[in-house]
Amino acid sequence: MSSRDSTANQLLEYSRKQTDHRDPITTSGGNPVPEKDASLTVGYHGPILFQDWVLIDELAHFSRERIPERVVHAKGAGAFGYFEVTHDINQYTAAKVFSEIGKKTPIAVRFSQVAGEMGSADTNRDFRGFAVKFYTEDGIWDLVGNNFPVFFVRDCALFPNFIHVLKRNPSTHIRPDYDMFWDFISLREESMHALLMMFADRGIPASYRQMHGYGANTFAFVNAQGKFNYCKFHYLTNQGIANLNSDLAEKINGSDPDYLIRDLYNAIDTGNYPSWTMYVQIMTPEQAAKTSYDPFDDSKVWLHADFPLIPVGRFVLNKNPKSYFAEIEQIAFDVAHLIPGIEPSPDRMLQGRLFNYGDTHRYRLGINTTQLPVNSPFKVNNYQRDGHSSLQSQNGAPVYHPNSFKGPEEDRRAKALSPIIPLVGDAQRIDSGQDENYAQPRLLYQRVLKPAERGRLIQNIVSWLKNANNVIQERQLANFAKVDEDFSRRIKEAINAGSHPQVNL
Ligand code: HEM
Repeated sequence: MSSRDSTANQLLEYSRKQTDHRDPITTSGGNPVPEKDASLTVGYHGPILFQDWVLIDELAHFSRERIPERVVHAKGAGAFGYFEVTHDINQYTAAKVFSEIGKKTPIAVRFSQVAGEMGSADTNRDFRGFAVKFYTEDGIWDLVGNNFPVFFVRDCALFPNFIHVLKRNPSTHIRPDYDMFWDFISLREESMHALLMMFADRGIPASYRQMHGYGANTFAFVNAQGKFNYCKFHYLTNQGIANLNSDLAEKINGSDPDYLIRDLYNAIDTGNYPSWTMYVQIMTPEQAAKTSYDPFDDSKVWLHADFPLIPVGRFVLNKNPKSYFAEIEQIAFDVAHLIPGIEPSPDRMLQGRLFNYGDTHRYRLGINTTQLPVNSPFKVNNYQRDGHSSLQSQNGAPVYHPNSFKGPEEDRRAKALSPIIPLVGDAQRIDSGQDENYAQPRLLYQRVLKPAERGRLIQNIVSWLKNANNVIQERQLANFAKVDEDFSRRIKEAINAGSHPQVNL
């Protein structure tokens, strides 16, 4: 860490831009403050007067400075920039954000750790969040992705359980609790693909600028003729991938826990703007009915050989936030914010996410979250009014629909682009845990990873799995053997090389 980089110089830069004139301090009501550093007392040792509004105003605001942190992805960094279309994909989608080559749309991006709290270190082994907010002429489109193309569970019913095993043990308040983690992982075999990715080199990125992003869930495109196709989003870094090995990451955790935030801020502040190239994969409904794997299962990738990456555009981050809290802590990405031309798919994780983000925003930020400047679409016309901290008047438009007073009407274009989806089936709860879970992890281990990468993957797994009790270890080793016998054997040997107490469950 350099001692005088852009983050260190932030206050110096502020003061350099000021003239000698200094504005008066005010209360939150804008009233000039006569004395900032002393409370109003009766004599030198007297008690403080209740009429010291300056003090009360300050203390009351101070005790309300913190709001609930995100229940996941609490620690992060963000920036602003633009998305530019470089390739025509109108044959697939009528979404205006992609309407013509050269079109630019303002964006906000937030990168994050999944498991750690707001104060946790940046270089832990974890997935990283990579969420993009597009401020389009059709309102906000939030593409809320991660730095990996797959996830640990494929049914949203399991999401809170999975997150619980990453968080603190509620009795001991210790994180990670290795028994909790490996118990769940070993009992839910669909986690294998994401697990291998997290324990391989990319599990600790060296920079937010040097990792890819993936929408991961399956979405759908609708074109101007109403033709419907499934799609996945990828945004690949133009800076090249860079990762930290576990030892170095551990050292940085101790010496510079905000390492990734600092890196992003400094790069943008010095004009070294990071960019990503955006691609889509397209799958027709006919192909979706025939693929050998479930195209709506987010523990699986769509093989590039069958569904090639189609370039769409690029995005660039060129502006740091001025206030982390106002612009990044209060930014609210909602998977349900979709624009005409982009639709959800039956992906069970995506379906759960459609509800959960808006719900958590109502808890974390309130009912008028979308009126905060960083979340605000360019235009809102609706029949919602009021609530905590509402800023909108909607110019006196009627507050009920239908009406005879020229209030806003349904959008014909959006209606034409709404797909008619034929659905059949019996309502039932189907546990998909025993669907095919190993073909793609096997491909990753045997074909994609090079021998040295496999070696590091094994070391990284051992450093966590050795801490779990032996019953859970055995179960997980049996799962690893379903990926590759030799893989499991090597992990077992490395664990046995240390000595670990046996327990009975
Ligand atoms: C059923 C599955 C899931 C549920 C219920 C869920 C729920 C949540 C919740 C409640 C938050 C906190 C949002 C906030 O307070 O603003 C969050 C954040 C986030 N989630 Fe998920 N999530 C799920 C799966 C996923 C998946 C599969 C991905 C990636 C492909 C993902 C990416 C993110 C990201 C990037 C954030 C942080 C957004 C930000 O920077 O503000 N989540 N998620």
